[in-house]
Amino acid sequence: MTPYPTFASDAFAGKTVLITGAASGMGFETARAFLSKGAEIVLADRDAEGLARAKSELSGKVHTVTVDIGQNDSIETMFAYCDANLAQLDHVICCAAIITAKKIPDQDWAHWERVMSVNLLGTFFTVKGAVTRMLGNAEGGNIVCVASDVAYHGGGGLIADTAYAASKAGTLSIVKSVGRELAGKNVRINALNPGPTDSPMHNHIDPALKERIAANLPRRRMGRPHDMAAAILFLCSPEASFVYGTAVDVDGGSSFR
Ligand SMILES: NC(=O)c1ccc[n+]([C@@H]2O[C@H](COP(=O)([O-])OP(=O)(O)OC[C@H]3O[C@@H](n4cnc5c(N)ncnc54)[C@H](O)[C@@H]3O)[C@@H](O)[C@H]2O)c1
Repeated sequence: MTPYPTFASDAFAGKTVLITGAASGMGFETARAFLSKGAEIVLADRDAEGLARAKSELSGKVHTVTVDIGQNDSIETMFAYCDANLAQLDHVICCAAIITAKKIPDQDWAHWERVMSVNLLGTFFTVKGAVTRMLGNAEGGNIVCVASDVAYHGGGGLIADTAYAASKAGTLSIVKSVGRELAGKNVRINALNPGPTDSPMHNHIDPALKERIAANLPRRRMGRPHDMAAAILFLCSPEASFVYGTAVDVDGGSSFR
């Protein structure tokens, strides 16, 4: 079956896409989705082995770059790679993050610093690198930041904790603030709020807990990376040109419980 049949196979031909967290889960599936529509992709991740595996499973114009988005100099190296190897940067998908699930007494200062460095600072400085380049593009560009439904619901320490949820709420605020500042420019920014999604991020979770989570969702299943990649394709498409500075919930209905 053609993946993502709603989009023409050349919908993103000639376009370039940088995806952080692309070695796994949603980031990897998003790369597969854009490649199937003709784009040139830079897969960025801290997991070098995972990047090599991802590249071997994909076909098309694929670059890889190792990055730790918890380090500003590493983010700058990632963008330097893009500057040297791509004609321009059209779409940036901020997917990389770590999930943590500690109870309050176990969350120390170092824990918060680690989560915020990767999930919040890493997202902002990736967005900053994207914006500064896209403002110089004749056709602008698109940024999608992957947040989470726990930005609204909070994390209780079972599968996500306070630090993680706060980092994702902060991600939504980055999208709003950057969107406000870029008003009238040709660069769009939006967030995607996935609900619980069956990706390697949750490999360590007891299958019985996953079943309980799925049973509690109005759609009665967990999300799939495919669900998220499809929404990201839409957000980066011209059809989404009036979708701006907002968050799209792709969460099986978790947000109205
Ligand atoms: N899986 C879920 O239930 C769920 C729900 C809501 C939101 N999200 C968000 O979706 C996004 C993708 O998650 P996923 O489920 O595909 O997880 P995943 O673990 O499969 O993928 C995350 C990727 O990010 C990479 N990464 C982690 N820290 C990094 C760093 N410092 N620098 C560079 N790369 C780094 C990992 O190596 C991994 O390849 C994340 O932002 C996550 O917070 C996930």
